[in-house]
Amino acid sequence: MRDAEPHPVRLADYRPPAWLVDTVNLDVSLHPTATRVVSRLALRRNPKGEAGAPVVLDGDGLTLVRVALDGAPLAGGAYEATPEALILRAPPGDRFTLEIETLVDPTANTQLMGLYRSRGNYCTQCEPEGFRRITYFPDRSDVLAVYTVRIEANREEAPVLLSNGNLERNGPVPDTDRHYAIWHDPWPKPSYLFALVGGNLSKVPDHFVTASGKPVELGIYVEPGKETRATYAMDALKRSMRWDETAFGREYDLDVFNIVAVSDFNMGAMENKGLNVFNDKYVLASPETATDADYAGIEGVIAHEYFHNWSGNRVTCRDWFQLCLKEGLTVFRDQEFSSDQRSRPVKRISDVRLLKAAQFTEDAGPLSHPVRPETYREINNFYTATVYEKGAEVVRMLKTLLGEQGFRAGMDLYFERHDGDAATIEDFLAAFADATGRDLGQFAAWYSQSGTPRVTAHGSYDAAARTYRLDVRQETPPSALQPVKRPMVLPLAVGLLGPDGAELPLSLDDGRNVPRHVIEVTQAEQSFVFTGITERPVLSLNRGFSAPINLSTNLTDTDLVFLAAHDSDPFNRFDALQDLAFRLLKAGAAEGRLPDAGPLVEAARRLLADTALDPAFKAQALALPGENEIAREIGSNVDPDAVFKARRALRAVLADALAAPLATAYDAHAAGTAYSPDAAAAGRRALRNLTLDYLTASASPEALARAQAQYAGTDNMTDRFAALAVIVQHDTPARTEVLEDFYRRFVTDPLVIDKWLSLQAQIPEEGTLDRVKALTLLPVFSMANPNRVRALIGAFATANPTQFHRPDGKGHDFLVDVVLGLDAKNPQVAARMLSAFKTFRQLEPGRRASAERALRRVAETPGLSADVSDIASRSLS
Ligand code: TRP
Ligand code: ZN
Repeated sequence: MRDAEPHPVRLADYRPPAWLVDTVNLDVSLHPTATRVVSRLALRRNPKGEAGAPVVLDGDGLTLVRVALDGAPLAGGAYEATPEALILRAPPGDRFTLEIETLVDPTANTQLMGLYRSRGNYCTQCEPEGFRRITYFPDRSDVLAVYTVRIEANREEAPVLLSNGNLERNGPVPDTDRHYAIWHDPWPKPSYLFALVGGNLSKVPDHFVTASGKPVELGIYVEPGKETRATYAMDALKRSMRWDETAFGREYDLDVFNIVAVSDFNMGAMENKGLNVFNDKYVLASPETATDADYAGIEGVIAHEYFHNWSGNRVTCRDWFQLCLKEGLTVFRDQEFSSDQRSRPVKRISDVRLLKAAQFTEDAGPLSHPVRPETYREINNFYTATVYEKGAEVVRMLKTLLGEQGFRAGMDLYFERHDGDAATIEDFLAAFADATGRDLGQFAAWYSQSGTPRVTAHGSYDAAARTYRLDVRQETPPSALQPVKRPMVLPLAVGLLGPDGAELPLSLDDGRNVPRHVIEVTQAEQSFVFTGITERPVLSLNRGFSAPINLSTNLTDTDLVFLAAHDSDPFNRFDALQDLAFRLLKAGAAEGRLPDAGPLVEAARRLLADTALDPAFKAQALALPGENEIAREIGSNVDPDAVFKARRALRAVLADALAAPLATAYDAHAAGTAYSPDAAAAGRRALRNLTLDYLTASASPEALARAQAQYAGTDNMTDRFAALAVIVQHDTPARTEVLEDFYRRFVTDPLVIDKWLSLQAQIPEEGTLDRVKALTLLPVFSMANPNRVRALIGAFATANPTQFHRPDGKGHDFLVDVVLGLDAKNPQVAARMLSAFKTFRQLEPGRRASAERALRRVAETPGLSADVSDIASRSLS
């Protein structure tokens, strides 16, 4: 793990495993520094594997105690063992059991992969290659085995013992202070879905009855004292279970489903079979400590991990190149769930915002890769926005192309055909092709070609012919690995609006109508002629962001104002306003002066006044694009200070021009009854807090007083934090006051302290770098905890462009120091932090050179992990 892997892994090199494992019997005796693991594997030669191949089991930093074969100890010469592998060159036949004893030290495990301790509790993280840090095993996702796990531990240290599947037995170990539990998981699974937990945890119990009447015992395990904070997660879990039955026909398949919340976790959560392990950030919530966004995050991640039970666990991935098979599909499923639970348009808008912010930027820079990569040096670095978010978009496009019923038929066939399999993207697409009779050959390029397609659409109206002609061109930016790219299949949802805003009926000149209002672009250049159009229409294209593309059209500002007011597609209504803002912001950043914002102001005024609109939608539509989004739209030679100034200036213009309606909206959406995290209430808070942001833009004493009143007068974190955030933007005595107050209130609550850290890291002032450095020294901060690191360092590097990209290069230097310090302890998190440089090529030359120097300093450091060295070298390529 410590040394950069010399050989990349290639998709083209895939070979079936030479040996299979039918059953695994694990006996784990937990101890803080010397946990003993005895593993008994029923090995069988794979008839489809390489003939005569030796048994090669993966390891990572393991200490071997002994090996036995069919019960007899193996002599030293019969096997080769290193910390990284256990090899039997001359296995005695095609079927035998191997018993392996290893010792691991969970307290010394700072990587948080394998078996480790978090606040004293034992837990595991095995995806993608953590199981090999527990015992020797063919640690690859196409080796599926049935696991029986006996866990033993000190009764006081770990009263709760959990593993996958159903509990078979538990009890004291006679004459000792220890106890044991035996868990059995009847479903064959790959090693990455193994999990084990031992500790002092409180169970929040509940139950669920599946559609076919099977009872399921539910449990969420949290630190004692935090039980009431798991209520919302439990509610989200039950809603997820029901939704998967109705929306996808998928039922749960064990007697128990457990979730454990831990404080030290590299990512969001993990879908281990029957025993999901969660970053506690995605479990724990109370109105006083969690924001509306936190609640939505919990709902989404609980659903995501639960949905993996079918898309990931029952049907798993053949190899890690197929990661999007489970992740893209499961993100799509959790997005659909949240859309059904909340507001579909608002969910779509926030998903697209995330897609563009995280994935489009990734795809436009040196870390760009296809949804299904073809080579990797470190798989941990491919849990990316491209695999997850673009992977979900590809599934969404399939649904758009095939329609609701065709899509469902394909999903059903996929689950039916591949239940119990380790499948591939080809299998996935074949299910849809076979279920609908549609050829998806060209569509498959979405998995193999990197880059965001650039699409231009030029519309022209011919009054004499009563036709509207749409000329579409597409091009996907070439890359070093793929200098020539083929045209993609683009499902473009489309509408034409008449002068009164009414939707015009669509028919094409070849006599076809436009099924579901979607045109399919398949060529580099293609034209569509709509007939029977009696007046000049306004084009609404790529509705709902039906294809993940960079679209430019010949719509005028007037057209955009019209769409913002009339489009029946809420996404494009939102997008029209954003486009107007982007046009101003780009010009403003380039020229140092904003052009006339009149059209945007009028569009925003109308939207604000429209009482028929959902407040949550208004909040999205009226929020200006962030600095990173503006930089992405500019694309090259970006000066973050110019972007910042342009955005501030436009915000001031809007705040000034709309002062009265903003104040009215603020008062009209005042908190009424007790806090509820539901979408409608959250939407009112979102709009009110957005208006507060505008109202305090000028930092007038009255406005700041209003924010302070909100800060002090509320009972919920959403409103308190929103007020804090606007106060902290301004360098006034109130800033210090509220920051200190907030710290005092929540000093014992790490997840809330993360908000406090994150907010300070984002102050767009020169003093911020020193502030961030000082914050790292506080006892509430720890480089060993990924949530703290992401909250402080991650926010500074990704959400404060003017300060991270300080012209003196000190922001870059700081990040490099952090990454190099962290790498020895937690390479995964170190690599994530380093990927903040992924957009550096779009910067103006001075800052770009500074970022490049910083990356070189990393790349030239000896002894880097594979994780960090991979990100550094690809970023520089
Ligand atoms: N499979 C998990 C999910 O998306 C994420 C995951 C992958 C993960 N690798 C991890 C979580 C390592 C924690 C640590 O649902
Ligand atoms: Zn996932």
